[in-house]
Amino acid sequence: MYMEYVTLNNGVRMPAVGFGTWDVRGESGRQAIIQALELGYRLLDTAQMYENEDIVGKAVRGSGIPRKDMFITTKLYRPSAGYTKAKKGIERSLRALDMDYIDLLLIHEPYDNAAQMYDAFREAYEQGKVRAIGISNFNMEKYKDFIEYCGVIPAVDQVESHVYFPQLDLKDFLKSYGTVMQSWASFSEGRKNIFREPLLIEIGKQYGKTAGQVALRFLVQNGIPVIPKSVHTDRMRENLSVFDFNLTQADMKRIAGLDKGKSLFGWY
Ligand SMILES: NC(=O)c1ccc[n+]([C@@H]2O[C@H](COP(=O)([O-])OP(=O)(O)OC[C@H]3O[C@@H](n4cnc5c(N)ncnc54)[C@H](OP(=O)(O)O)[C@@H]3O)[C@@H](O)[C@H]2O)c1
Repeated sequence: MYMEYVTLNNGVRMPAVGFGTWDVRGESGRQAIIQALELGYRLLDTAQMYENEDIVGKAVRGSGIPRKDMFITTKLYRPSAGYTKAKKGIERSLRALDMDYIDLLLIHEPYDNAAQMYDAFREAYEQGKVRAIGISNFNMEKYKDFIEYCGVIPAVDQVESHVYFPQLDLKDFLKSYGTVMQSWASFSEGRKNIFREPLLIEIGKQYGKTAGQVALRFLVQNGIPVIPKSVHTDRMRENLSVFDFNLTQADMKRIAGLDKGKSLFGWY
């Protein structure tokens, strides 16, 4: 399956569409990940919080896909908030994944001692254990504070972003510093009945695409990489197929009109 890539601020290339693994667990989860890899996904988004790094690692090894062709993102959370804790946390993730390196390592949320966590991230980055480092759920204010002392500008800030709250201003702001904004919950986790949104259905009909594909295309076309999650094969395939049509400027403008300017998750 065709894939587009975004280039991060250190030259590392990241797939524009990846596979989210929140709540993808156990043997059925491993099978779902293998299915995703067979369909062409090359980015897997996991986190220590998801308790599934081990099955992500097993699925990648079982797939036979060369490690260099894969892009593995993981995140450390509160139990690793601190320099020594994060150092140990990175080793824990490498062990759980059973991999020599992580492609993208993120601080899951802006914890009080995110700076100390990031010191450990920088070290791992310099040692080649991690190819790119970044953050997640940092708004403009948190980001501004963070980059004053972080040393290495985050490659990625992974945040809530979907048609109802795309955060296009945050995307432009981050871009001006060299950070790519990646979307989580590109489907708003199904909130607001996104798959039945009349405008997305109407626009999709012009291109033979579903509401979901239009929702993803809107983000990707705005330069926002996505990591939709599904455990259903047909949906996994559908979610990858967003590179063979272009929304017009008028479409983009109409979809931007769905922006309510407010988080649906209350994170920000
Ligand atoms: N950094 C963070 O703090 C953070 C927070 C949340 C999520 N994430 C990451 O972002 C990923 C994506 O977010 P998410 O999983 O929360 O939500 P999402 O991708 O917005 O939505 C997933 C939901 O949509 C359904 N779905 C997927 N494709 C569909 C399609 N084509 N048609 C109809 N329904 C479809 C899935 O159901 P089925 O599985 O039953 O198909 C699931 O219920 C996560 O898996 C995780 O890796 C990160």
